[in-house]
Amino acid sequence: MKFNIPIDSPDIPLVATTLFGLENILFGEMQSLGIKNLQLANRAVTGTGSFKDIMKLNYLSRLAVKVGIPFSKFKATSEKQLYDGVYSLPWENWIKPEETIAIESSVWSNYFKHSQYAALKVKDAIVDRIRDRKGARPSIQLQDPNYSLLLNIFEGEIQLLLNTSGESLHKRGYKKVMGEAALSEILAAGIIEFSGWNGETPMIDPMCGSGTLLIEAAYKYYEIPSQWRRKKFNFENWDFVNSKDWDNIKSEYRPNWDKTKVDILGFDRSMKAMRATSDNLLEAKIFDLVKVDILSFENNTQVVPSTLVMNPPYDERLAIDDVQGFYQSIGNQLKHHWKGSTAWIITSNEIALKSIGLKPSQKIPLKNGPLNCKLQSFKLF
Ligand SMILES: C[S@@+](CC[C@H](N)C(=O)[O-])C[C@H]1O[C@@H](n2cnc3c(N)ncnc32)[C@H](O)[C@@H]1O
Repeated sequence: MKFNIPIDSPDIPLVATTLFGLENILFGEMQSLGIKNLQLANRAVTGTGSFKDIMKLNYLSRLAVKVGIPFSKFKATSEKQLYDGVYSLPWENWIKPEETIAIESSVWSNYFKHSQYAALKVKDAIVDRIRDRKGARPSIQLQDPNYSLLLNIFEGEIQLLLNTSGESLHKRGYKKVMGEAALSEILAAGIIEFSGWNGETPMIDPMCGSGTLLIEAAYKYYEIPSQWRRKKFNFENWDFVNSKDWDNIKSEYRPNWDKTKVDILGFDRSMKAMRATSDNLLEAKIFDLVKVDILSFENNTQVVPSTLVMNPPYDERLAIDDVQGFYQSIGNQLKHHWKGSTAWIITSNEIALKSIGLKPSQKIPLKNGPLNCKLQSFKLF
């Protein structure tokens, strides 16, 4: 049994990681995908499922960052204990010397302060063990290794997981152009989920940048698998995985092009942003389903009640001269020209957000990269 994983079991333990604040909606998503024994964890949801469920989760989840299978847990409070614990596992039965590995670490511990260093110790233990038993060692390869491993350290608890996804699932394969201060696709999908938008109103991003929110909205509405355009998952490298199941998943879950067409509209005042959005829509294969136009929000008025999602500049990565004045003008525009609509605004600039001058009906704490953010909704009567 490779990595002690009961590959044919319907109840393989799994951990789907996510971004801060998205745990509850990931839980709901995993429930709807049939994952069992769900439990909320720190920036993650744990559960059990068959390997087919794990492939499905990778292919369809809009909110998971990575899906791992835990295969070893032990205690260590020193580098030596960490090394010995990893060395004691039968790595030579699982990984051939000519194969490649990568190790990624997340560390919250007073015993291990440097996550890179902990990953290095684990790597040393694995390659030493295989070299000692086989006379040759696997090499490290960060891009698409044969086996991608995750090391989680929480205080003195060490957990090793096989990373079934490989690269983070925000890499959906459609971002041809990275916009300035673009949202993570996972965070964008979370915002769309929180908005509750279901196609009954137009969906509008008036400051769309490179179009992440628009694409995630369209992918959700037209039931397009989140990873429809992604090239590779780490599990595709494993010979113990049933490739027929994988082919079946890809042919079973297809975009629903028969759905009634809805207005998904993007605007930005910058020509560069317009080009980025258009390129990404093309790459996402939904160019005909989302309309974009160059227009500044000050001149943008919509007659039909809509759902707005906005990621305005925070004055962090994108600087603005008078950030409070800018947010105040957003508020004025919303009050006067968007009656009947609901606006969802994410920003890290809470002081500026107050200048909007509208009472939020919901406040959801999130993180955009390292920035603490609030997603607030405003019902415009
Ligand atoms: C933080 S970026 C949006 C990033 C986008 N969510 C993405 O994922 O790529 C903010 C965008 O707002 C646009 N913007 C700033 N002020 C604007 C205004 N008054 N009207 C329209 N767009 C504006 C900028 O050109 C920029 O593309």
